[in-house]
Amino acid sequence: MRKVLHRIGQRHLFANGHAYDRHAGKTFRGLHRQVAEDVAAAAPEGGLVLDAGCGTGRLAAEIAARRPDLRVRGVDLEPGMVETAIERAEGAGIADRVQFTVADLADLPFPDDSVDLIVSTASMHHWADVPAVVSSLDRVLRREGPMWIYDIRWVPAGQVRSTSAKHRRRMVRTVVRTGSFPLALFQRLDSSAA
Ligand SMILES: C[S@@+](CC[C@H](N)C(=O)[O-])C[C@H]1O[C@@H](n2cnc3c(N)ncnc32)[C@H](O)[C@@H]1O
Repeated sequence: MRKVLHRIGQRHLFANGHAYDRHAGKTFRGLHRQVAEDVAAAAPEGGLVLDAGCGTGRLAAEIAARRPDLRVRGVDLEPGMVETAIERAEGAGIADRVQFTVADLADLPFPDDSVDLIVSTASMHHWADVPAVVSSLDRVLRREGPMWIYDIRWVPAGQVRSTSAKHRRRMVRTVVRTGSFPLALFQRLDSSAA
């Protein structure tokens, strides 16, 4: 387990989208499928879903396969990852509704309150400025929208909690079993719980 997570922590893997994609296909298949099921069950009809730190677009494609009505946008810092994600969407014939952008999550090219659901897998432990990314995600997500950030269990939670305390909604951390291993899940509290 630690060996796998050490490998996903190696940033040089991200320069080559195809190499990372082979690795993600083995390591994250179960995770992506289970998270895609949850997103498919929760996203509103015709909604906009953001995959934050989308890598090579595996999760976005799994979501799109389950919900043809959704628009899915993936954002990632690494052009090599995004190129592979675009190839995947074009190959699957879903590029009209699944699109990818190279950008820093801390400076998202989306208007305020424009996204219906945000999901992220195995990306947060790479964010150079966690408070800036959490603020940016909070800005673009509509008020009632779910925000689900899955990451390794020992990722420091303090920065997420202290940042979100300044925003419209608090974040809570739980441990969930997704795919083959337990992960931390950071969720923005819904309006009834806030
Ligand atoms: C381990 S990969 C996970 C990729 C994908 N979510 C998955 O489940 O396969 C982490 C990704 O986060 C991206 N990332 C890290 N910091 C980022 C940031 N500030 N903005 C956008 N993407 C970022 C990396 O480029 C990398 O593609």
